[in-house]
Amino acid sequence: MRFLFVMDPPSVIKFDSDTSFALMLEAQAQGHRVDHCLPTDLFLVGGVLHANVRRASMQRDPIEPVALAQGEDVNLETIDAVFVRTDPPFDTAYLWTTLLLERLRDKTLVVNDPRGLRDANEKLYACQWPDLMPETMVTSQRERVKSFVKQVGGRAVIKPIDGAGGEGVMALLEGDPNLRAIIDSVTNNGRRQAMVQRYLPEYKQGDKRILLLDGEPIGALLRVPKSDDIASNLRMGGTAHSGVVDEADRKIIERIAPQLRKDGLYFVGLDVIGGLLTEINVTSPTGIQQISKINKENVSKLVIEWVVKKVGAA
Ligand SMILES: Nc1ncnc2c1ncn2[C@@H]1O[C@H](COP(=O)(O)OP(=O)(O)O)[C@@H](O)[C@H]1O
Ligand SMILES: [Mg+2]
Repeated sequence: MRFLFVMDPPSVIKFDSDTSFALMLEAQAQGHRVDHCLPTDLFLVGGVLHANVRRASMQRDPIEPVALAQGEDVNLETIDAVFVRTDPPFDTAYLWTTLLLERLRDKTLVVNDPRGLRDANEKLYACQWPDLMPETMVTSQRERVKSFVKQVGGRAVIKPIDGAGGEGVMALLEGDPNLRAIIDSVTNNGRRQAMVQRYLPEYKQGDKRILLLDGEPIGALLRVPKSDDIASNLRMGGTAHSGVVDEADRKIIERIAPQLRKDGLYFVGLDVIGGLLTEINVTSPTGIQQISKINKENVSKLVIEWVVKKVGAA
């Protein structure tokens, strides 16, 4: 089969931690052709989506993990599956990418479905299941944030709606002389919505990342933060430990899986702290290499095999 990865340039790929790289490497190992392109390489002519793609060869090499061949124009309707793997932010360029990929509907499998990618903001999508989440409020208004902090016991976290990788997540403490300044900074002085959430002390034991494939768990990872940091994200210096999908997690998964399937969100990463859902990552979920290493299991294999089966059944 022929797969296209729409993603960031190979220069940012880390061969030993990157999920996109692991998927590309596995697709190659299974004998498929793998192409790479940037979102700016997509082009639409006569309503048909094309891209200037480069054939990618992968090797576990820190210097050049992905080598790209010469560019060639290809009609994406002739490709078997497209993976959208650009890193956040979700900006206008990203929105347009999803709208261009709409042209492939019913023609080429796109992981994840571009409509799902548009609809599912990683923080707000989870709010459909408030009973699975810690108490959460979305607001741009300082006074509402302050009364929420008081209401949930004097401690909370505030996070930017479009944040990722732990960026901009801050702890809020009632009575802290910096409280106003922190809120104003995240809401850009009341001009932007922010998510405020009850503080879960369990984050210190780890923020569990559960990878789901077509609504089924394929692995989990516990990210333990540095002792002096609120963010557990690996990018912020958190460390990866073995994670187990327990009974409580299965209950969460059971509830959300039907909606994920409906929205074409085939490959996603749930974040669970203290048994509560905090986020559903859909744009470019990570963790596959760390889970594979810890569990001594090639989790990427499951993803690629699933895509092959899905394309074959279409
Ligand atoms: N309610 C919370 N209580 C305590 N810590 C939290 C809470 N929500 C998030 N965090 C911390 O912030 C990190 C990032 O939060 P998350 O909501 O997953 O956003 P991001 O998209 O930046 O990963 C988490 O890994 C965790 O360490
Ligand atoms: Mg997260």
